[in-house]
Amino acid sequence: MTCIDGKRIAADIRAELREKSAEFEKKYGKKPGLAVVLVGEDPASQVYVRNKVKGCEEAGIRSFAHYLPASASQKEVEALVSDLAADENVHGILVQLPLPAHLDAERILACIPACKDVDGFSAENIGRLAMHEEGTVACTPLGVMELLRRYQIDPCGKRAVVIGRSNIVGRPMALLLLNADATVTVCHSRTKDLKSICREADILVAAIGKPHFVTADMVKEGAVVIDVGINRVDGKLAGDVDFDAVASKTSYITPVPGGVGPMTIAMLLTNTLACAERAMR
Ligand code: GUN
Repeated sequence: MTCIDGKRIAADIRAELREKSAEFEKKYGKKPGLAVVLVGEDPASQVYVRNKVKGCEEAGIRSFAHYLPASASQKEVEALVSDLAADENVHGILVQLPLPAHLDAERILACIPACKDVDGFSAENIGRLAMHEEGTVACTPLGVMELLRRYQIDPCGKRAVVIGRSNIVGRPMALLLLNADATVTVCHSRTKDLKSICREADILVAAIGKPHFVTADMVKEGAVVIDVGINRVDGKLAGDVDFDAVASKTSYITPVPGGVGPMTIAMLLTNTLACAERAMR
């Protein structure tokens, strides 16, 4: 069993991006730029945004952090995002979710043009992914693919099972695995006989949001198990996989923390540089 080291890979990627960002700056006279918008004071979101800004610094990317109070109006947030959309120094825009309940997130996200949509959440980018065309892919599933690539785990011809069908993880994950020539099954809360489907998986991706949901009896001997879960249990981080029970059955497994988590920001930075390079074409 190999424990996949997402923390190390993410650090490698930030170092690689630093060189690429320096090349970009030499060529175009400015750094790639990422704007991050946080509305309100949610403590978890504040930590995420701080880490994104810090990641930018390490990767040689200019960050533009915008903090609006929880009382900000729909019009104010839309005006800010529209200004960022028109700003030539901003190549990527991320609006931190969730937004306060009085705001219409869909309408705010619609102010981000697909070419600056570093989250890959827009219908255009999801459509491009579904059609196997170039575009921006959501950071977390993209991070999973990068871990597989760097550990030389080729999904081609493999049976892949994704548990979870969210727009942010499950669906794009299934499309990425399909684009990589895996035979893909997507399971969800209505799936019948989940256990026997999971037991067929050569690659099992857990994106459910329930701590320790995947148990040893759901995993085939020698499978690759990828845990996308970030759950808090008694103040501690827990994945969707019962790591201690499952690990010895696997060929590769990602831990929580230190597996997929650190890859998300690394992929956000990668997407920002890619958007910046496309803007200069
Ligand atoms: N909140 C939690 N994760 C994410 C993410 O990947 N993107 C955005 N925009 N908000 C988030």
